[in-house]
Amino acid sequence: MTKHTPLKFDYSNAIIPEYGISEEMIQGIADKLNAAQQEVLKTDLELWGSDADVPAEKQPLDAGFHEMPERILDAYQSDRENSELGRILKTAARMRESVDKVVILGIGGSYMGARALMESCCQPYHNELPRSARGGRPRIYFEGNNVDNDWSQALLQFLEADSQGDGPEGNWGIVVISKSGGTLETAAAFRQFLRALENKVGADRLPEFVVPVTGAEGKLASLSDAIGCKERFEVPDGVGGRFSVFSAVGLLPAAIMGIDVVALLEGAATMNSQFRTAPLGSNPVLDYVAVNHLLEKERGVNTRVMSVWTKSLESIGLWYDQLLAESLGKAEQGALPLTCVNSRDLHSRAQQHQEGVRDKVMNNIVLDVWRQDPLSIGHSDNNEDLLNELSDKTLPEVMDAALRGTNLAYQEDKRPTTNLHLAGSNESTVGQLLQMLMLTTVVEGRLMGINPYGQPGVEKYKNYMNQLLRKA
Ligand code: PA5
Repeated sequence: MTKHTPLKFDYSNAIIPEYGISEEMIQGIADKLNAAQQEVLKTDLELWGSDADVPAEKQPLDAGFHEMPERILDAYQSDRENSELGRILKTAARMRESVDKVVILGIGGSYMGARALMESCCQPYHNELPRSARGGRPRIYFEGNNVDNDWSQALLQFLEADSQGDGPEGNWGIVVISKSGGTLETAAAFRQFLRALENKVGADRLPEFVVPVTGAEGKLASLSDAIGCKERFEVPDGVGGRFSVFSAVGLLPAAIMGIDVVALLEGAATMNSQFRTAPLGSNPVLDYVAVNHLLEKERGVNTRVMSVWTKSLESIGLWYDQLLAESLGKAEQGALPLTCVNSRDLHSRAQQHQEGVRDKVMNNIVLDVWRQDPLSIGHSDNNEDLLNELSDKTLPEVMDAALRGTNLAYQEDKRPTTNLHLAGSNESTVGQLLQMLMLTTVVEGRLMGINPYGQPGVEKYKNYMNQLLRKA
């Protein structure tokens, strides 16, 4: 089993008189936080007896994400090959052996998690590496997350031009993901990419190269039956799209990329056990909710900046943007999420964060361990840039100075920041982080009296879009 170093949440820089919060303020909401935690911890049945008894304002109740990591791991322990994870690993291995490129079609919660896993756990230039350096893992492309004429065609043209012959090097495949099975962006892309794939491999062999992940019923389920897809994975009932990263929605793409999905799920389970047992003050979920919620309600801090201090975590920031926005942006409430990548965005956003409206908290996500050995700036005989006095400084040291300097500057101006420390960007820490953020979102929703599940506002535009298209 992988060693799981727990994430550490440090909110000492948010304790600021007048503009920040205090320990007393946190203690003041301890009972409410505890009640919200208990609501999240209890299973649906324990809470309501039966689905029919769930009050209208709590519907949909898609709390199934919470214990999914343990459920999937337990099933894998007891019946390896026949368990869902066993099937995922087998399909992923087959895809790796038979194709060199996989196009993942999906939108919103049906793709953002997979993208976040790729950027945080794979080699940064994965797609650019030759197959041997990738250990036979396919290159990964994301589509069906837009209706962008130029990008869709560019990928189709690239696939056609770059996929010659019938060996694994020349083949490509599709993983199509849609819980409802009816989302227009993904459905349209599936039709277009399927046509291109059929032109290459022929209708008979199409099922070998296409793996759908969808609900038990729906248009995509019917279509994959009609095509004769060999394997199909289900998005479980009671798990909403943006909470589905630890189902086949995230695990199948991750396994194809060669990510250690067992370590990922164990990381998530580690966070669950911390959430269940650690007291307020050393419980990353409760502490994060307490700080961010109090800043919003008591200090008008309604922009929540997730500052990630490595490029590897940018897509986790974007995944969280969706999670927070779609879950809590309801009933004219909900903080505005914003992802920053530092030190890059210190040169674009820091001015406003330092001196603009006092409506922001900077939640830093900090790597304590880098994958590669520290790279120093190095000595040069051409010292016109005057860097020789820093020649022995390494990039991690420069990054650390940038983080600490930024925090000091904000602190001096009484602007709240927090630091969440990760022992690297890897399966264990990412499993913990994603589970932590999903838990914080539902706990905060319960605290605010907002149902974090469902996205009724999104349905409105979809209805209008469909009406407009089908009328014309
Ligand atoms: O969080 C959600 O439920 C949404 O973002 C969905 O994931 C998104 O709308 C895609 O839906 P589907 O998976 O049904 O295609």
